[in-house]
Amino acid sequence: MIKLPLIQKPLPGPKARKLIDQDRTYVSPSYTRYYPLVVEKAKGLWVHDVDGNIFLDFTAGIAVCATGHCHPRVVKAVKEQADRLLHMSGTDFYYRAQIALAKKLSSLTPGKGGKKVYFGNSGAEAVEAAFKLARWHTQRELNLAFYGAFHGRTMGALSLTASKTIQKKHYNPLVPGITHIPFAYCYRCPYNLRYPGCELGCVQWVEDTLFRTTIPPEEVAAIFVEPIQGEGGYIVPPPEFHKKMNDLAKKYGILYVADEVQSGMGRTGKMFAMEHFGVDPDIIALAKGIASGMPLGALIAGTEIMDWEAGSHASTFGGNPVSCRAALATIELLEEGLMKNAADQGDYLMAGLRELQLSYECMGDVRGKGLMVGVELVRDRETKEPARTWRNEIIQNAFHKGLLLLGCGENTIRFSPPLTVTAGEIDTCLSIFDNAVREIAG
Ligand SMILES: Cc1ncc(COP(=O)(O)O)c(C=O)c1O
Repeated sequence: MIKLPLIQKPLPGPKARKLIDQDRTYVSPSYTRYYPLVVEKAKGLWVHDVDGNIFLDFTAGIAVCATGHCHPRVVKAVKEQADRLLHMSGTDFYYRAQIALAKKLSSLTPGKGGKKVYFGNSGAEAVEAAFKLARWHTQRELNLAFYGAFHGRTMGALSLTASKTIQKKHYNPLVPGITHIPFAYCYRCPYNLRYPGCELGCVQWVEDTLFRTTIPPEEVAAIFVEPIQGEGGYIVPPPEFHKKMNDLAKKYGILYVADEVQSGMGRTGKMFAMEHFGVDPDIIALAKGIASGMPLGALIAGTEIMDWEAGSHASTFGGNPVSCRAALATIELLEEGLMKNAADQGDYLMAGLRELQLSYECMGDVRGKGLMVGVELVRDRETKEPARTWRNEIIQNAFHKGLLLLGCGENTIRFSPPLTVTAGEIDTCLSIFDNAVREIAG
């Protein structure tokens, strides 16, 4: 039997409205809410709001609930650990869960040689730790990152971010020594070139111009990069981009740091998205999907790179035992089949969206890997004028029809469902999305 969303209009319902009023009074106004969803409970891909409406979730709580909402094996692991030990601080003491997870993550990471893991509580903390480790290990002061990148909102991670000015407004001065360079966003090439004829001039520019004029490469600690840009618009670079950029980094002793906070942990059909590009990064930052919704960030680096001394970096809560057990249960499920499901269902979702693209001129670009899929909306296929308002209206419209979606970049809609998604759920998503697009921009 096909399960469908169940919506009683108008949204938000009476209970949701009351809670949103309280939220407005007591909760920080800095959060970005696309639509008035007040969640009561959720299971798999199905989210129930406080008024009894049921939504199909293609956001996974911003690409976090990898195993679906409240997967029974993750919940069991959390409950068992909660009964035994909630906290002791892996910074000052030892416990089994943190050691077991570090061992598991080390074994999963591509590349030869031993690995070590640092634990924090979020994506920003994982990136922040990578930033500090790169400086510590190389004793170099400069770093490169990309336009469109989102690495988090703490001052170091924010300094690496170049996504939206609102994220930086009034927060300057940030950490100095970071230079942003154009990403391989081939749909809108910043150099006005065309792939593959461009021969990746964007990488060559770094060596030929940047390293010759303003940035001495021997002073650069690291290049921070998302394998697939996430918040920037789900942008997939060409297959050889990371290899070329990593080769350039290696030539000058620069570390290649992969921010896999959004793309990692099976979402793209491989454990780490960088595996699609054949690159073994020096440092990997993880969070989001790693523990199916429990807060956890992790940084993985080669043993020779993670050479910082006791006291140089730590976190009271980082590597919390309950979060570590949730992560171990998550990884087991990914290995048992969810990663393969992400690859298979990702192909199915992409094919369905490409089919819809034939009917809608506004679907300018459909791109992604596995279950990290974006649709970039344009007013006109030829001029590629970004359709920002349509993007927001389509997301709103989908919500009112019972489908949860989020935006990314200026004019892209992302599809990032839990990796448990079925073909039937994708059919439902595509059918609602079809109607939502037709009513707004058809
Ligand atoms: C690639 C990437 N890095 C870092 C972060 C920051 O993660 P958090 O919000 O957990 O601090 C995000 C969050 O969206 C992200 O997508």
